[in-house]
Amino acid sequence: MHVTMVKKRLASGEPCRKCAQAEELLKARGLWSRVDEVLWADENDAASPGMQLGARLGIGLAPFFVVRQEGGAETVFESVLQFAQFVQGAKETATVEGNASPAASAGDSVLAITPAELEAAARDLASRPPAEILRWGLERWGASLGIAFSGAEDVVLVHMASESDLPFSVFCLDTGRLHPETYRFIDTVRKRYKIDITLMAPEAAPLQAFVKQKGLFSFYDEGHEECCGIRKVEPLRRSLGGLRAWATGQRRDQSPATRSAIAVVETDRTFAGRGGPGTLIKLNPLAAWSSADTWQYIRGSGIPYNALHERGFISIGCEPCTRAVLPGEHERAGRWWWEENTKRECGLHIGNVAPPKR
Ligand code: ADX
Ligand code: SF4
Repeated sequence: MHVTMVKKRLASGEPCRKCAQAEELLKARGLWSRVDEVLWADENDAASPGMQLGARLGIGLAPFFVVRQEGGAETVFESVLQFAQFVQGAKETATVEGNASPAASAGDSVLAITPAELEAAARDLASRPPAEILRWGLERWGASLGIAFSGAEDVVLVHMASESDLPFSVFCLDTGRLHPETYRFIDTVRKRYKIDITLMAPEAAPLQAFVKQKGLFSFYDEGHEECCGIRKVEPLRRSLGGLRAWATGQRRDQSPATRSAIAVVETDRTFAGRGGPGTLIKLNPLAAWSSADTWQYIRGSGIPYNALHERGFISIGCEPCTRAVLPGEHERAGRWWWEENTKRECGLHIGNVAPPKR
């Protein structure tokens, strides 16, 4: 058995933080000696050995591990935790002959969670602090768990994930209509936590056709569904297709009309993950927190926030569909204010409004 670890070197020349954390974790568990070689994926150099291996296997994230057996069969692990479990012999994982297909070879048996396990975890985690809920997900899925990042709650999750010293990934749906302050905020978070944030853009052709036909502000007349569908939901679907689990910053008190019953952990019945429909796990670690809890944590931990919060904005989405609220107004009053309360979900969390049939 020969093990290759691929680490990323950022454009700045620094090694990526998650790769360093993965190495530390393996050292702490006495498993570092199981890694036979380290290949670097230089962000600036598509010809670097790690980038080439990633391209061959269809993997864009580092660190990852390739275990090659005598006969040439390869198993690929995108999570250091799954790799650690594998080399510890905790579980047997599927191997794929010849060209490894990440979808089929990423230690599926290690990652899968049975309905009974999920139910027990949901019960156990329901009243646990957010950091513990997130840690549970990260210990299981590592970088195959994506934090959906856009606002104040999400940077809290990034902060907690970063403190956990476990691998994680972060993505943001860049609708093209975010405020300049939001773009600055995204970059501040990227630098502060030394993390990659994958910005997911809408697909060009449907967006172009939509804008050509309906212009840039059709949502004021026709509702936000179509625009959100193209700019947010489709890119989310693409993001989630590569993940096993995702974490959101949803809170129950954010929207009494649509979020009062959200679970701390659940199966996502709207979107499919890497394992196909019905396998994607959704974590809402802050479900039980209030706005005050969130802001106390942000202030207490010196966490960066969007400058718009200093100008009366509470819940922040796209620029044309977000406004500041008056004292005493509910935060959701600043989103799609021309529509009914019960319709103020953009499709990311549509299961809150219309749970799909099981
Ligand atoms: S929305 O559905 O109405 O837009 P909201 O702004 O309340 O959602 O955010 C709830 C959670 O959805 C956030 O905490 C975040 O996890 C996720 N989310 C919302 N907008 C985005 C975005 N543009 N990119 C990534 N995640 C997002
Ligand atoms: Fe379009 Fe507004 Fe939805 Fe953004 S929030 S995707 S601008 S409808």
